[in-house]
Amino acid sequence: MWSPSRRHLCLAFLLACALSAIFLLHIHHDLFHKGLHLSFLCPDRCLVSSIFCLPGTPLTPGASRSCPRCPASPAGTWTIYSDGRFGNQMGQYATLLALAQLNGRQACIPPSMHATLAPVFRITLPVLAPRMDRDTTWRKVELHDWMSEEYAQLQDPFVKLFGFPCSWTFFHHLREQIRSEFTLHNHLREEAQGFLNQLRLGPARGRPGTFVGVHVRRGDYLKVMPQRWKGVVGDRAYLQQAMDWFRAQHKDPIFVVTSNGMEWCRENINTSQGDVIFAGNGQEASPGKDFALLTQCNHTVMTIGTFGFWAAYLAGGDTVYLANFTLPDSDFLKIFKPQAAFLPEWVGIAADLSPLLTKAGP
Ligand SMILES: *[C@@H]1O[C@H](CO)[C@@H](O)[C@H](O)[C@H]1NC(C)=O
Ligand SMILES: *[C@@H]1O[C@H](CO)[C@@H](O)[C@H](O)[C@H]1NC(C)=O
Repeated sequence: MWSPSRRHLCLAFLLACALSAIFLLHIHHDLFHKGLHLSFLCPDRCLVSSIFCLPGTPLTPGASRSCPRCPASPAGTWTIYSDGRFGNQMGQYATLLALAQLNGRQACIPPSMHATLAPVFRITLPVLAPRMDRDTTWRKVELHDWMSEEYAQLQDPFVKLFGFPCSWTFFHHLREQIRSEFTLHNHLREEAQGFLNQLRLGPARGRPGTFVGVHVRRGDYLKVMPQRWKGVVGDRAYLQQAMDWFRAQHKDPIFVVTSNGMEWCRENINTSQGDVIFAGNGQEASPGKDFALLTQCNHTVMTIGTFGFWAAYLAGGDTVYLANFTLPDSDFLKIFKPQAAFLPEWVGIAADLSPLLTKAGP
């Protein structure tokens, strides 16, 4: 009969220890999401720059590959919980930058935010290592979507912000810095410019080359607005009015339409004047192309949503937005202040709320 030697027993014991340790760590630390297992294998620098930045790092030449690591700051570090899609994360980024600066703290973004925004923009805020995030005792601050005085006087050196802020009242005093953070990578800007140039040679020949980016938010909002918020999305009549406003203000503009519902746009936007181009590339999967196109246009028609807000804010031209798109008793107005969302110089066109009223009627 084979009898195990001391050495065999010892090896088996060690193996069992190692396996159970790995098993326990998996259960308790959600290893694969936080990347702890990798920090055993390589130092943080490697962890942050090659593991977390890789998915978001553009591979095109000329694009920024940098993924600066969050420095230890004696004054303290602020970060933000990143959630939502592209436009929401832009709002979170800009708000973190502005509030940290106001309070004299270092701002560092979570890796997931870097992965969303760095493929499109030349952002510079450093990235928080998962280990530092775990090891820091954060004061959690829930933000509402407009600036208030308390946010300028938070004493805590380590703050993690929460919420979906996207109000110019946080960051408009830093407009140039925000615009520079959201500078497009060259390949995206050039692709968008190439597209607009082709319009100049083709469908827009003989026109002065004034482009109006039209962002039509559809998708989940078609249900969320009426069901959750007693609200509507931009409809056919609104888009007609908004485009007519530009036709009256500018000579021979060209409308470049992007949407996450291009089919609806093709069926509902009036093309009889020959000045509408449908250019959507699919915003859900890779928002960068549509976003680049909108910001390279001179002016903007928004419907609803933060994607359109940011396109308008960065394009920096005339902007028409959908105003009063919920019933007055909507809960949406508790979390959203129109004056803090739309710049005063932007032009609002009131939404038609009659679809909501007929539904609610007897
Ligand atoms: C309008 O946008 C196009 C494309 O980005 C640009 O070439 C042109 O200079 C802009 N026109 C004005 C008046 O800014
Ligand atoms: C939206 O409603 C407010 C409050 O009733 C009103 O003052 C404002 O003029 C409306 N905006 C538009 C564009 O109609």
